[in-house]
Amino acid sequence: MSKLVLCITAASGSIYAQRFLERALELNLSLDCIVSENARRVIEYELEIPFEEFQKHYAQRGVKFHPPEDFFSPLASGSRLSLYRAVVVLPCSVSTLGAVAGGITDNLIHRVCDVALKERVDLIMAVREMPLSPIHLENMLKLNRAGAKVFPISPGFYNKPQKVEDIADFVVGKIFDLLRLEHNTYTRWRENET
Ligand SMILES: Cc1cc2nc3c(=O)[nH]c(=O)nc-3n(C[C@H](O)[C@H](O)[C@H](O)COP(=O)(O)O)c2cc1C
Repeated sequence: MSKLVLCITAASGSIYAQRFLERALELNLSLDCIVSENARRVIEYELEIPFEEFQKHYAQRGVKFHPPEDFFSPLASGSRLSLYRAVVVLPCSVSTLGAVAGGITDNLIHRVCDVALKERVDLIMAVREMPLSPIHLENMLKLNRAGAKVFPISPGFYNKPQKVEDIADFVVGKIFDLLRLEHNTYTRWRENET
């Protein structure tokens, strides 16, 4: 099953979500996407494109967008979400992390994460914040114990990145690894020597 939900929240690092969409489309994955209200503004600020343009670009390539306030979306239901391989939150703000850790479902992203946990659909939360307070750390531990794969975004540099896209692709590739997908999104350790 290769259907994924990508949730984009308003942490810094819109480029991670952009690279995830590019690379996942190259792998012919089927993608649903929810962008939080605040993330729309961060995308515009960091990627310097109007959100409508960003959304249109990927919608034309088959990505299905769901408004973050739409609790009538099929994704809000366990009977539909259980048909998906995973939910990926990238980048994940500590606000969304806290809401999910507290079981609060104020928007469709929170709801989808909550449903993923109860249905045992893989939930990957790539948190972007530094430093981390005890509250953030406790929320991460709580969600890890509940079955989510939670980590602060932390790119490696052993693959000698040449440009910012390479750094983002390393993070995207590590997420594909967690999903056990075959890919060449980043160069693995000593890959060209063996
Ligand atoms: C430019 C910008 C960068 C931000 N970066 C981060 C960040 O890296 N991590 C974070 O947790 N919050 C960050 N924030 C704050 C979040 O946007 C804010 O907490 C927001 O309420 C999160 O909403 P969401 O989780 O619904 O997307 C940033 C805000 C702005 C305007």
